[in-house]
Amino acid sequence: MELPFAELYKIKMVETIKQSTREQREQWLAEAYNNVFNLRSEYVFIDLLTDSGTGAMSDKQWSEMMVGDESYAGASSYIKMKETIKTLFGFNDFLPTHQGRAAENVLFSVLVKEGDIIPGNSHFDTTKGHIEFRKAQAVDCTIDEAFDTTVYHPFKGNLDLNKLTKVFEENPLEKIPMVIVTVTNNTSGGQPVSMQNLKEVSALTHQFGAKVVMDSARFAENAYFIKKREEGYADKTIKEIVKEMYSYTDAMTMSSKKDAIVNMGGFIGFSDRALYEKASVYNIMFEGFVTYGGMSGRDMNALCQGLDEATEFDYLDTRIRQVEYLADKLLAHGVPILQPTGGHAIFIDATSFFPEIPKEEFIAQRLVVELYLEAGLRTVEIGTILADRDPETRENRYPKLELVRLAIPRRVYTNSHMDYIAAAVCNVFDRRKEITRGMKILKEAPIMRHFTVELARL
Ligand code: F0G
Repeated sequence: MELPFAELYKIKMVETIKQSTREQREQWLAEAYNNVFNLRSEYVFIDLLTDSGTGAMSDKQWSEMMVGDESYAGASSYIKMKETIKTLFGFNDFLPTHQGRAAENVLFSVLVKEGDIIPGNSHFDTTKGHIEFRKAQAVDCTIDEAFDTTVYHPFKGNLDLNKLTKVFEENPLEKIPMVIVTVTNNTSGGQPVSMQNLKEVSALTHQFGAKVVMDSARFAENAYFIKKREEGYADKTIKEIVKEMYSYTDAMTMSSKKDAIVNMGGFIGFSDRALYEKASVYNIMFEGFVTYGGMSGRDMNALCQGLDEATEFDYLDTRIRQVEYLADKLLAHGVPILQPTGGHAIFIDATSFFPEIPKEEFIAQRLVVELYLEAGLRTVEIGTILADRDPETRENRYPKLELVRLAIPRRVYTNSHMDYIAAAVCNVFDRRKEITRGMKILKEAPIMRHFTVELARL
């Protein structure tokens, strides 16, 4: 018999999770006004809300926490982080921040002014938020293939060079300080950007005098896909691929809660000393002194160890194969999911799942509700509720894709949990014809409504 693939770790510490009855879930969800952000985590059996800050640290990361240096300035933990970032990404300078959006806030305080235009590949919400907050505009230059869930493209995170050139040609260059490349591209489904595309985007951007900033939350997963899918990279190590990726980049913002496998933390990496010096002033104001910026010494130590582990092939192979394992089960049952599967999550195409629900009735949110009621799964809507209202017209914005994301935390769940998730999704899929109506909003906040919105089932 051929030996099957098995996880390349064993478990040393466990956390109990509890099952519930459908009746209990009906009650809890009603009390939460059909918004899963309002649920207590103990009412959730398998939590797929996000892969951010929800990973399991290794024994080595926990041991690193014991030797953290909590000195205010010049701590050895800071020096360790500086050396790790230099070795892995090639950046001489960095600033620690408390999480990814804080890194954006500090860097954009230097780079983004009112009226600026910031092209990128489907900017993440906080990135877009920090751009729009400064009265600048985020322009999406992702390739068209990314918006068709059924078409196969190995690098659906790529930027379209024609779209990017057009942005540069049609706007005053002084209004375009940078291009943001998000790896992997979370918004378009955890899809990778190829090395070739990075190289070309970098050359084009530099030709027009702008900087390339990499939004790096899932950079290691991106490197894994380059190794697996791009010609010429099969024999390179993940660390070599990462080094090359960042050789095309002027700066990076990092949410360490994803691919550094820690529960909190972030940083900015810089190749440009002058930019680092300007950003330092904002870091001191918003985050903390430049040698800790919102992080404790022990957290910096765990982060360094996490970065090292996350850039090892065996870890990434276990991680991404688990996502694929779940995807294969769903595909075998005919469930419409975004293909190819991304690195950190499965995205269900809610419009194909519930074709009869009108788009005005928040199709993806209805699926989120059904998955919770069916099996205690907490997933997240990436659709009309998240897209919010147009700031001018106050009309709902209908995004190109109406998705439900099942984000898989790192090293947390086993493949038995994947089997359970697959069965739950397939059960709802089997009774999809009974569900023809969606949701209506009872109460919503003027901005970022998805966190607090209150809904009723129609
Ligand atoms: N960039 C990307 C691509 C992200 O996915 C996130 C967070 C951030 C920046 C912001 O980082 O949360 O540390 O402030 N994504 C989480 C998610 C919240 O669920 O996808 P943060």
